Amino acid sequence: MRRKIVVGNWKMNNTIAEAIELSSAIAEELRDGGASCEVGIAPAFPALSGVHGVLEGTGIHLAAQNCHYENDGAYTGEVSVRMLEEAGCSYVIAGHSERRQYFGETSAIVNLKVKKVLSEGLRVILCVGETLEEREQGITGEVVTGQVKDGLEGIADIADVVIAYEPVWAIGTGKTATSQQAQDVHASIRETVAALYGQQAASDLRIQYGGSVKPSNAEELFAMPDIDGGLIGGASLKAEDFVAIVNAAGR
Ligand code: PGA
Repeated sequence: MRRKIVVGNWKMNNTIAEAIELSSAIAEELRDGGASCEVGIAPAFPALSGVHGVLEGTGIHLAAQNCHYENDGAYTGEVSVRMLEEAGCSYVIAGHSERRQYFGETSAIVNLKVKKVLSEGLRVILCVGETLEEREQGITGEVVTGQVKDGLEGIADIADVVIAYEPVWAIGTGKTATSQQAQDVHASIRETVAALYGQQAASDLRIQYGGSVKPSNAEELFAMPDIDGGLIGGASLKAEDFVAIVNAAGR
């Protein structure tokens, strides 16, 4: 059975001090209740080391929000997977729609990142999702299937891959996909993966939903058969809300 995974994507929020405070509060609350799903936190780069110190020994994973696809070199402003590993990361998010939209990340670039993360022995969260226009044009399936295929191009083994389905129109907008809308896309992602990697790999693959997940809708989303947890933006910035979502995944 797939173990659910809930990851907080803090985006460009929290100073180092704030990140340490928030991660400490989350770790504290989860220590009492114990998390029955896998949990991760993705702070901004400067806070990684400090948050790593907080999370050590708690079982909560440290994740990075992005990476470069080379090990080192003249890439001003970029951070390599090796650096992230040394900072304590076990997961890296690749191809978040904000990276695709605002920073020109193409599917080809996302694929290079996915490959680099895996070749360095870390796990990757590959984000996919359609825009509102694409949904309205009725091409959600095509777009998402294309992103999954492109993102995984040339990758032989997906044991260390998590896919996050995040409809762009639901991110940070307060509009959540209905649990059935999300389930339909998750099921089609699993079919795509089954065609590429076989039934076993597809049924082992964890597919997170992301886009305005809150304590009030998490349980219903996570109860769907193909939704294996969430990638949480806004609601991960409050310890209480994030922990409630983690607990919803454990039920
Ligand atoms: P949101 O963000 O929960 O604030 O909608 C989700 C994400 O972008 O990962």
